[in-house]
Amino acid sequence: MGRRAWQASPLIRVLVPRERRSGETRVAATPETVKRLCSLGCSVWLERSAGEAAGYGDGAFAEAGAELFDAEGAEAEAQWAAADLVLCVQAPELEACGLRPGALLIGLLDPFRNTALIDLCEGRQVSALALELLPRISRAQAMDALSSQANIAGYKAVLVAAAALDRFFPMLMTAAGTVQPAKVVVLGAGVAGLQAVATARRLGAMVKVSDVRPAAREQVESLGARFIEPPQMEQAPGEVGGYAREAGAVFLEAQRQLLAPHLQEADVVITTAQVPGKPAPLLVTREMIALLRPGAVVVDLAVAQGGNCAGSAPDAEVLLDGVRLIGASNLPASVPQHASALYARNLVALVEVLLQEGELRIDPQDPLLDPCLITHAGACRRNDLRPIRQEVPA
Ligand code: NAI
Repeated sequence: MGRRAWQASPLIRVLVPRERRSGETRVAATPETVKRLCSLGCSVWLERSAGEAAGYGDGAFAEAGAELFDAEGAEAEAQWAAADLVLCVQAPELEACGLRPGALLIGLLDPFRNTALIDLCEGRQVSALALELLPRISRAQAMDALSSQANIAGYKAVLVAAAALDRFFPMLMTAAGTVQPAKVVVLGAGVAGLQAVATARRLGAMVKVSDVRPAAREQVESLGARFIEPPQMEQAPGEVGGYAREAGAVFLEAQRQLLAPHLQEADVVITTAQVPGKPAPLLVTREMIALLRPGAVVVDLAVAQGGNCAGSAPDAEVLLDGVRLIGASNLPASVPQHASALYARNLVALVEVLLQEGELRIDPQDPLLDPCLITHAGACRRNDLRPIRQEVPA
């Protein structure tokens, strides 16, 4: 096969580490995406067993063209120091990694909370691209890792709830009589919420949904669920760029009052309400938990952002007034093979944009990169991520 002229230039070295955060089973590349990266002129260096927990063995990666390296020792140090591009799921412990100035790190970097990472990338002149901040423009759709992972979280939340519930989900007509379908309330009708609605409906539940964005109504109803009207008041948060704005205290109190009668009837509550960069709205207070029947299940997908439900704790099940509160901070990691496959494709779609004529080109003014390139050339580029020590470069 003929090599294009630019492929004669040194290959772009892409490093894929094994994820080290507790409970993280996903991997940022699959054999399929390794093949694609190699065909784009990259050499892919993958830490041994990086894909094991997701069902992708070292052999399959090697066959696809990846070079494997050991986690410890001089070899690992050399790989990190030589990398042009690091593809990860969650941010690695960069202190230990020795990335070179000018290298690019892409992942779900938790930019609103991981200030240490931002400091480190600034200090080392590492460019960091946080996928959470990709703009919702049509050019970015194939790269939208938040959506691909939220879809999985919404689906799995319903399965987790169904497994924990003391009733069936569907209506069943048996010789011993008929059982009524489960009643599910979903709070937040974004990507995760809508997938939760669709999954709960497929299992036969009756579903009601609350969201503050008026546009959510049509989507909810098209899935055969009932929309719970948000409070009609001046203080309604509205939306910006498709995301909800943060609701004020008065609005949230009114919303909780509207939700109360629906919670009273619910067997399952799935909470997904979020506002980017802000704590999740508290929609189910401690007192409201007592409204739910004993045996009811709440799955709080916003638990990592502070939670939509009082008392929920990350990756724990808490029993309050007989109600099971399940704080699910990383459900995509419980479906690691598909979660990794979709995530890795999101990354390749982004890398395809960054690779131009065999070089990794980062144009901070590109509307696709501008919002999500959080550090570049030794500076933090977003004033909202942490107290500013220096001006955002033009
Ligand atoms: P998200 O994860 O930021 O929040 C989840 C949901 O919580 C949102 O629907 C939000 O309106 C809702 N919420 C916030 N405060 C609430 C409150 N007090 N009570 C009830 N619900 C509340 O949202 P996600 O999943 O990122 O989706 C946000 C919007 O972006 C949706 O309209 C979605 O369809 C859209 N979207 C657009 C994409 C694109 O244009 N490429 C890609 C993915 C999503």
